Amino acid sequence: MAILSPIVPHHVAIVMDGNGRWATKRFLPRIAGHKQGVNSLTRCVQACLERGIRVLTVFAFSSENWNRPSEEVSGLMKLLALSLSKEVQSLNANGVRIYFVGNREPLSEKVQAGLAQAERMTSGNQRLIFNVCFNYGGRWDIAQAAQRLSSRGEAITELALDRAMALAHVPDPDLLIRTGGELRLSNFLLWQAAYSELYFSDKLWPSFDEAALDEAIAVFRTRERRFGQTPGQLNGKVNGRDKNQNAEVA
Ligand code: IPE
Ligand code: IPE
Ligand code: MG
Repeated sequence: MAILSPIVPHHVAIVMDGNGRWATKRFLPRIAGHKQGVNSLTRCVQACLERGIRVLTVFAFSSENWNRPSEEVSGLMKLLALSLSKEVQSLNANGVRIYFVGNREPLSEKVQAGLAQAERMTSGNQRLIFNVCFNYGGRWDIAQAAQRLSSRGEAITELALDRAMALAHVPDPDLLIRTGGELRLSNFLLWQAAYSELYFSDKLWPSFDEAALDEAIAVFRTRERRFGQTPGQLNGKVNGRDKNQNAEVA
């Protein structure tokens, strides 16, 4: 039997792109798109819970997003704090464990305290691990992991780096979705997405609903994940023959 993808991916990662365009199309300020993006994320978390997905990792603010106009950056910082205070209770009640992944140093002390409080409050939950990547970049993550190993005088091996990365508490993503039509990673999960199945949607993030998620999962299920092996190996065959016929082959 071929190793078919399970019914739902264990870990789904999402580049939530397209908020600005969603707003601009409606003659609204970009921040209105980001607010609608938070609503879309709340629905997405619920949909993941209902479908039995165990890990959701979302890209909320990249290392490079600081280069946006200052009013958009400060609007996004305020939205993070506001969304936290609005959503944490119900996430907690739904068994969601929150992790904030990224460099917290440039964030205000108040925001940092809010993030730590949300993590502490939800730390006993197990239904869904929800990683919010904020001021995150894949290159930052690889560099901070290497830095950590070097400061401890440890050898930089693949395994050691993997364990020092910001997402060491979860397995690598099975399915990586990007909304908004762009076909790039934009510095998201450079290390962890090595064998993720990629899915690109033209839908702008605020319009990415349950049906769109189901479509992504349906496509994921048609993928054959080979991890470097041949299709024959996955089918229990070597060079096109069943493994148990190998004696005859030789
Ligand atoms: C993604 O939406 C959210 C963030 C990067 C914070 P964008 O703001 O990039 O939306 P578009 O790509 O300009 O439409
Ligand atoms: C990626 O989207 C970052 C997030 C969704 C948070 P961007 O809109 O920043 O990516 P680019 O600039 O189009 O590559
Ligand atoms: Mg964008």
